[in-house]
Amino acid sequence: MKYRSVAIDGPSGAGKSTLAKRLAQELGFLYVDTGAIYRTVGLAVRRRGIDPVDEAGVAALLPELSISMRYGEDGLQHMFLSGEDVTGAIRENEISAYASKAASLPAVRDFLLEMQRRTAREHDVIMDGRDIGTVVLPQADLKIFLTAAPEARAQRRYRELLARGQQADFDQVLAEVVERDRRDTERETAPLRLAEDAVTADTTALDLEGSFQLLLGLIRDHLLIKEGQADE
Ligand code: DC
Repeated sequence: MKYRSVAIDGPSGAGKSTLAKRLAQELGFLYVDTGAIYRTVGLAVRRRGIDPVDEAGVAALLPELSISMRYGEDGLQHMFLSGEDVTGAIRENEISAYASKAASLPAVRDFLLEMQRRTAREHDVIMDGRDIGTVVLPQADLKIFLTAAPEARAQRRYRELLARGQQADFDQVLAEVVERDRRDTERETAPLRLAEDAVTADTTALDLEGSFQLLLGLIRDHLLIKEGQADE
């Protein structure tokens, strides 16, 4: 059986994970958050005290890493590092930069590629990340490039951090968003870019519900899924 796949790529804070999670639930697909996989590598790198831009150091660590992904009864993706559930730990703000830096190393991308492809071979997936439509699943049934203005994305990230009880300064969050965009788009290996056959969805002026309806409509049209029909 051929499983269906929707690739959602875009810069950080565009709403990819929130929307992809809800869309997957609505349609009965598996939601695969590939950023969480890179974050798990970022966390491992940090815990070992390795500089995330030290390619040789990070590459030497990879064969020792045991990273896995499991879905809980809640249907949500949990990340495990050597058997420890690190789903919460990878969301610490400082892990973002570690993940982004480690993600620019070809050795890290190669290491994680098969895990992502295998998941799509075995399930209907909505997979989000930076290079899903261009590298991981070039044959995806639908590719969406989800974006929004940097200020709007920083505002969302800022509120998210405050809601989680973390300290945050808006200007700093904006500077981090801009810096991460730069690193994610300018890196040599698998940079964030628009796949030729991707549909662009800009959510700057849309709230969550508006963005959700926009993407749901796109997916239903492209995958010919009728309303009220979820794949069980
Ligand atoms: O989506 P996120 O913010 O959780 O991702 C964390 C970092 O991982 C991000 O800065 C870029 C990197 N990443 C990537 O390079 N490729 C992906 N497919 C997903 C994430």
